[in-house]
Amino acid sequence: MNSPFHNSSEYILSQVQDHLSRSLTGVPLLRALKGIHPIDIKRALLESETLEEAKEAFESIEVTSPTLHEILRDDNPVSSFWPFTRASAETIANMSLGYSSVALLGTPTLFGLLGDRPESRTMLFESDDYFFPEGSVPGYVKCDLTLGLPHAYDDQFDLIVGDPPWYLDEYLTWLEIAVRIARPGGTVIFVLFPEGIRESAKREREAIFSFARDHFESFTQANGIVEYETPSFEQVQMIRNGISPINWRSAEIFTGHVRKTKTRSYRGKRSAAVNEWVERRLGCGRLFIKREPVHSTNFLEFADPRSRFLSSPSRRDAARLRANVITSRGHGLRCNDPSRLISLLDSVKLFSDVNAYPDQMESGARDLLRTVAADLWGRFILI
Ligand SMILES: C[S@@+](CC[C@H](N)C(=O)[O-])C[C@H]1O[C@@H](n2cnc3c(N)ncnc32)[C@H](O)[C@@H]1O
Repeated sequence: MNSPFHNSSEYILSQVQDHLSRSLTGVPLLRALKGIHPIDIKRALLESETLEEAKEAFESIEVTSPTLHEILRDDNPVSSFWPFTRASAETIANMSLGYSSVALLGTPTLFGLLGDRPESRTMLFESDDYFFPEGSVPGYVKCDLTLGLPHAYDDQFDLIVGDPPWYLDEYLTWLEIAVRIARPGGTVIFVLFPEGIRESAKREREAIFSFARDHFESFTQANGIVEYETPSFEQVQMIRNGISPINWRSAEIFTGHVRKTKTRSYRGKRSAAVNEWVERRLGCGRLFIKREPVHSTNFLEFADPRSRFLSSPSRRDAARLRANVITSRGHGLRCNDPSRLISLLDSVKLFSDVNAYPDQMESGARDLLRTVAADLWGRFILI
């Protein structure tokens, strides 16, 4: 299990002070902190009332409200879509050349680059069909990898490239699948999360290395290859926290060579995480709705009473845990009747339809829905 996390304020403060003493600020400082989230860093500095340090660390990447922000692509917060930068995607794609059969686990960006090479069979296994509508692109299989893959894929691929959500359970399940679908002696390249992302991450990485020792003939780690774009929902949440939505996240990569005789010790199926949510579009934006209602007298309310946006993308964020409606632009809402919400959303074709929401809806809920619709409809959002 993933235990609750947050690096303690004292630990973050000591790390920041150490880097500030070496004149690291802004993006270089964030990169040096090995995956600790900028929002957590800023919060820790403010909580420990080290305002001078907070100013020094964040001054160059500060943003003030209100800000009009352009959203270039609406990313999926439910499936933890952390997109590679173009440069990183190209580097990893180049590492995949020369293999005649390639399986991509949760890496749609790579599939966009590698998908239609005639010299190789490339397949993408991915739950979100936002980029490649199901059935429209040969090689794309829409699936929930936490439920495993059919045995027909066993031993089929020379190379498997994966970038699972950064949670140990899911990560190990994906790694098992990679070993299973690799041909004996095949290669597995997986992104490896940095040890700063939570207090238990060091231990979790050890569990991954232990799996690798059991299943790979050999494996190597490399740094400096994987950098991510900040996804749309996190961009908004960073701005909400006064931080410019810069690209700050990076990770390692590891390459393992599967044993010629595979050890068949698999942990079996996990419960589906991504399928609990249904998706609806509103203008350019995407809403993800859990069918399970929340207990509240209000049809719709904000999950965080201080803001319509969640304060962080973390699955452990208190308001995120309370929310059963989240969006590609960082909103967190609670709804006591998700089926009704889904049918209301289904009736919206034009933005003016939003104004026609039934009069019997409480005015608070109607206003809230209109605000969210206005945030999602176009390319720009006012934060
Ligand atoms: C960390 S992101 C990696 C994205 C990658 N860096 C890229 O740019 O293509 C995880 C990816 O796995 C997909 N995903 C998450 N959970 C999944 C699941 N249970 N089954 C299949 N795909 C899943 C997400 O939609 C997302 O594309």
